[in-house]
Amino acid sequence: MRKKAAVIGAGNVGATAAMRLAEKGLADVALIDILEGVPAGKALDLTEAGPIEKHDMKIVGATGDYEAARGSDIVIITAGIPRKPGMSRDDLLSTNMGIMATVTREVAAVAPDAILIIVSNPLDAMCHVAYEASGFPRNRIIGMAGVLDSARFRAFIAMELNVSVENTHAFVLGGHGDTMVPLPRYSTVAGIPITELMSPERIDALVERTRNGGAEIVGLLKTGSAYYAPSSAAVEMAEAILKDNKKILPCAALLNGEYGIHDLFIGVPVKLGGNGVEEIIEIKLTEAEKAALDHSADAVRKLVADIRRLS
Ligand code: NAI
Ligand code: 2OP
Repeated sequence: MRKKAAVIGAGNVGATAAMRLAEKGLADVALIDILEGVPAGKALDLTEAGPIEKHDMKIVGATGDYEAARGSDIVIITAGIPRKPGMSRDDLLSTNMGIMATVTREVAAVAPDAILIIVSNPLDAMCHVAYEASGFPRNRIIGMAGVLDSARFRAFIAMELNVSVENTHAFVLGGHGDTMVPLPRYSTVAGIPITELMSPERIDALVERTRNGGAEIVGLLKTGSAYYAPSSAAVEMAEAILKDNKKILPCAALLNGEYGIHDLFIGVPVKLGGNGVEEIIEIKLTEAEKAALDHSADAVRKLVADIRRLS
């Protein structure tokens, strides 16, 4: 049976995610935004690419009308504002929390069985807003950040060692911010840990570039933030869910005691399948790695407290 996806926010990340969903033949897509004409225009443009890209996915755009999303299996939420040079992801909190609450309620009304992939920033805090606004169980709210941050780390490892990206594997855990936790011990090239392939100084440099990966792109684009890799990351998660292929990916999930962390969305390895988060994988961390994860959790906790204060 055909699957259906809705993408909320027809901006850079949303429209590119819609394109990737359609061109991979994963699902029909409903693209929703508040802007007049833009979602319909982008949906029509994507539809007209179908004969060349060889797909028959149905892509529709709607302005503020969530009927288009009715019955969606999966919903990717990208609505909100992106950061500009000089802004941190956290600067987006007060604007994006209101947008996230509104759109999630609309989505929950028309697609009560959907799995939500949250993209808007500040990511981990926005997952809390979506969780509370939807009333969905924790397995159906998943934040996209770790897949992106790990892809950046993998790209930098491949560039450094002049190897195929396909040989690389990496894990970046924690919150999607300056405190994120790249894990060199669990990052490999053809199964060999990078700690055996690079000096500690070069690993530190790649870790730092990964932490600043979003800011590096914002500094170059000047008018917005990254969207090619973010949309790829969100669609990799959607694909794992739509195809029920039990893929282990780093995603923001609500922890209830895993890693000693309670009631907090934060990036950890999860098994993604047809039921969303099917398992939270607890990997062994050294004391230093655990301390870094706890430090990152503290930063997310502070943002969640800010949400409560601003609500
Ligand atoms: P964008 O500005 O290109 O698109 C955002 C869209 O959301 C706009 O078209 C806007 O009209 C729409 N929007 C605003 N309020 C809305 C509402 N109430 N209902 C429906 N649509 C609404 O921004 P871009 O680059 O697509 O980024 C979107 C969000 O994703 C930003 O918050 C950005 O920081 C975040 N992001 C997160 C990443 C992650 O790793 N989690 C990676 C990249 C972006
Ligand atoms: C990124 O990491 C802006 O969070 C977004 O590119």
